[in-house]
Amino acid sequence: MPFHEKSVAIKVTQLLATRVGSPSDGYVTDLAYTRHHHASLDPGKAVWVATRAGLTTPAIRTACELGFGQGLSLAIHASAGETQWWGVDLIPEHVEFARSLLDEPAARERLVCASFDEFDTRADLPRFDFIALHGVWSWVSPQNRARITAFIDRRLAPNGIVYVGYNALPGWSPALSLRELLVASAAQVDSARLEDRIDAAMDFVTQLVAADPRILDSQPQFAKQLREIRSKKKSYLAHEYFNRDWHPMHFSQVATELTPIGLSYLGQADFSDSYDQWRLSETQRGLLGEIDDVVLRETARDVILDRRFRRDYWRRSEGAVTGSSCNLLEARLWVPPKVGLSKASAPAEVPAEVIVWVASLGAAGSIVTRSLDTAADRAALGYALGQGWVELAREPAVTAASRDRVAKINRRLLELVAADSEISVLASHLTGSGVEVGWWTLALLSAMRCDTRANAVIDQVLAQAERLGIALARAGFALTPEETRQELQTRHSALVTQADIFRESFAI
Ligand SMILES: C[S@@+](CC[C@H](N)C(=O)[O-])C[C@H]1O[C@@H](n2cnc3c(N)ncnc32)[C@H](O)[C@@H]1O
Repeated sequence: MPFHEKSVAIKVTQLLATRVGSPSDGYVTDLAYTRHHHASLDPGKAVWVATRAGLTTPAIRTACELGFGQGLSLAIHASAGETQWWGVDLIPEHVEFARSLLDEPAARERLVCASFDEFDTRADLPRFDFIALHGVWSWVSPQNRARITAFIDRRLAPNGIVYVGYNALPGWSPALSLRELLVASAAQVDSARLEDRIDAAMDFVTQLVAADPRILDSQPQFAKQLREIRSKKKSYLAHEYFNRDWHPMHFSQVATELTPIGLSYLGQADFSDSYDQWRLSETQRGLLGEIDDVVLRETARDVILDRRFRRDYWRRSEGAVTGSSCNLLEARLWVPPKVGLSKASAPAEVPAEVIVWVASLGAAGSIVTRSLDTAADRAALGYALGQGWVELAREPAVTAASRDRVAKINRRLLELVAADSEISVLASHLTGSGVEVGWWTLALLSAMRCDTRANAVIDQVLAQAERLGIALARAGFALTPEETRQELQTRHSALVTQADIFRESFAI
């Protein structure tokens, strides 16, 4: 190995993986991660996907999230549903934040600050009906993945469900060289601060792209990827790109690690597999339809879609999931209230059938039971669920039990929003999960608790946004100050009009 390469390798080991052999095993612990809610971590969605596949799934009483990060998803699901949640994460700041969202001391105690390895030695863990990990699988070492699969093997109950959300191939392939360069150039920087090393690495790669490298001919996505990540927060970049380990995977590779422990693929947690007719051409559907082997079919589907991220449910079962679906299917559905600019696809891209179907459910706040006898109904539901236009509603008897817990966590979220631009979700006892309402709506709701005057509320939200350095945007362009004020006035009026629906939906 030439000298300069050798020195890079040594520094990579020193600076990015200072904790080799320690519990973190190369995972960056210098910066806390961002705060998100992931709907796929909701056990109710997993049960729905199993039901859709014609399987009887026992109630999910116990669940565990491995590498829960800031724990927003876990705390929301523990508060809004009836499942007893456990969780583990390496970073003390994460665990402290997650615990601060929970009211019950016992629920807090179940969030453990430890490595996967240490956690697995506990004698008090139950068998879990649901084990979930999002943004972990492709960022940890092969040894840690082996620990995760051993944990699942030991701790997953019969018929239990596993959720894995991970960086997939081939979608991430243009970023493989980018990530190598970022890591190698960060390692050259003589600073103990990860933020400095990230800055220097970004500058280096920007210079390299400006020098017109040939990779841009074969992989034009390389420059696009760099542009994209330049706008991201360092707390995100640190965890996404600067770990020692980064292993985006094909579905077939993940299957190689999960099938030996008796797991069979169940379906997509984002429901995108329910509306192939709107995503794939007839030829593509025909080709996939002829593949019996689920591993080959999913891997081929990812190549067709150039997929970058997968959210998969797997199930422990005696026999493989056949893929035959339940014919008589009924769902209790809720139309959540929404105000403000929609982040969803442009209306022109939304299939007309979906618009009609969603409208048929009724206005915001409606709860209806629908039979989903046709493939068209199921496709429309899958699309609408993926967009958050409709949610799976729980029975009234269950929702009453979690209303108080929901009121408490939502009060906490409304307190946090003034100083935290990443908080954008409210828990709902109606669904047992979280509903994305966006920072601005949350900030308005928070300010409206103390002041009934529209202008005072809007001034307060504008001042908070300025302090946090955030702006409203439409179609990627920041609104002017006048447009922003106007938009907030519209939202404020909508919130006043829908006050009852918001109260009923979120116990606020
Ligand atoms: C990219 S973050 C994802 C966090 C969260 N699941 C989310 O999606 O917001 C990965 C998380 O896994 C945790 N982690 C990584 N290696 C771990 C280990 N060996 N034991 C426990 N937690 C670990 C990290 O501390 C970090 O919070």
